[in-house]
Amino acid sequence: MYVYLNGRKVDFYDGETVIELARREGVEVPSLCYARGARHRASCMVCSVRDRVTGQFFPACSTLPAGGMDIDTDSEEVRQLRVMSIELLLSDHRADCEAPCKTACPAGFDIAAMNRLYDAGDIDGAREFLRDGLVVPATLCYLCNAPCERVCRRKDLDMPVGIREIKKLLAAGTRAEAIVPPAGNGRRVAVVGSSPAGLSAAYRLRRLGYETTVFERAEAALVPHIEAGKVPAATVAAELEAIERTGVRIATSCGEVSFGDYDGLVSDGSAARHPREAVITARTRQPARLVLEGFRAAAKLAAILSGKGGGDAGDNAGDNAGGDADNVRLFGSTYGRFSEAERLDLSERSAGDKRPSRCLHCDCDRKTDCRLRDCATRFGIKSPRYSRETSLRALDRRRAGAGLGFEAAKCIRCGLCVYNSENGFTFAARGFDMRVMLPPGNEANVDGRLTELCPTGALYAL
Ligand code: SF4
Ligand code: SF4
Ligand code: SF4
Ligand code: FES
Repeated sequence: MYVYLNGRKVDFYDGETVIELARREGVEVPSLCYARGARHRASCMVCSVRDRVTGQFFPACSTLPAGGMDIDTDSEEVRQLRVMSIELLLSDHRADCEAPCKTACPAGFDIAAMNRLYDAGDIDGAREFLRDGLVVPATLCYLCNAPCERVCRRKDLDMPVGIREIKKLLAAGTRAEAIVPPAGNGRRVAVVGSSPAGLSAAYRLRRLGYETTVFERAEAALVPHIEAGKVPAATVAAELEAIERTGVRIATSCGEVSFGDYDGLVSDGSAARHPREAVITARTRQPARLVLEGFRAAAKLAAILSGKGGGDAGDNAGDNAGGDADNVRLFGSTYGRFSEAERLDLSERSAGDKRPSRCLHCDCDRKTDCRLRDCATRFGIKSPRYSRETSLRALDRRRAGAGLGFEAAKCIRCGLCVYNSENGFTFAARGFDMRVMLPPGNEANVDGRLTELCPTGALYAL
């Protein structure tokens, strides 16, 4: 038996659904409420396809092919229906994919992740994460006007998280002698200039195993790039010592240097000096932005040296800093502002908050692993087109069984957790008010395996 799939004649097997047939044939059909091998009921309509013979749309995840069908999975009409389905799912989705502080940081530094380590008492881990992400973090605290603190959600409850103070505190506790230099990869690179961009490029290349030397014309590193008197000399000295402890060499008072002995070069682009050269093209004096530009140049040079091309390594430059994979602008859900009810609710809950940072940890635990976000990104959705009144409260996170957290405001009510747990999750109410909940006493019947089924950040591992 056969059908036509996007105009191509293909066989189908008994019991095989259209989505299984399409995927077996290498045709991608997105899905949210479907997971292979799990119990499910079609509800999200993200897998919609159309039969060109009848003109009808149907969910590929729950429809069996019938002889004579001419299935269309990729026309504009199909695409539009999928977009509308995703937009409807997002219409009462009260959540931030990324914390606003990270979005506002010119270096894209993941402040919430640092705060999580800090709040968990992993001070060394927080310190290392900070240095890896900002390279000269204490210096930046003096130079940067902290757009992160201006957008911090905590200020809607009382006052912003003291992000700069936390960073200064962490940086001040750095024990340079405890820094372990990464193993070498046998290749040598040079970096021209010791601005935050040059030092960040050098630090990142050293982390990748390159033997790295920074060449600075002035008598001191970093200092010429800082407005006089803005950063204490001891702070600059401590930052440079930490960088050097990773194995980066810093040469000052340099005249003309020949880079022929080096495998590659990161330069400021004033003159092409090496056949394998990555140029820092930053047209900014914003110091945190310079860090990101340095990471980008390092990634670009590493790509050149590893033979993966000299293309723009772009936003992949950061590990915990920087932007989105493959330079794709990821969809970002955002709360906007807290409603008055949310504000009161959060104020009450955070009154007994013992976390030393006071951070709300706004970003989503599943931001790198969310099928809803992937779908919204793939379909180019910038922000939800529809919005409706919702009683779901942002950041209302509950424990839901061993090792499992549940945040109802991120749930798309797909039912996968309901159909795949016995006496676990259940639906409550009907229509637009339908909610998924875990009745008291059912906690023992759910476990972390449900997070693999959940297509959103509503269920997450604790
Ligand atoms: S559930 Fe997905 S879309 Fe929603 S905030 Fe989390 S990552 Fe973003
Ligand atoms: S509360 Fe925490 S995660 Fe949220 S914006 Fe402030 S620092 Fe960032
Ligand atoms: S919590 Fe359950 S119903 Fe909600 S999105 Fe996740 S799997 Fe679906
Ligand atoms: S209706 Fe098919 S994946 Fe949701």
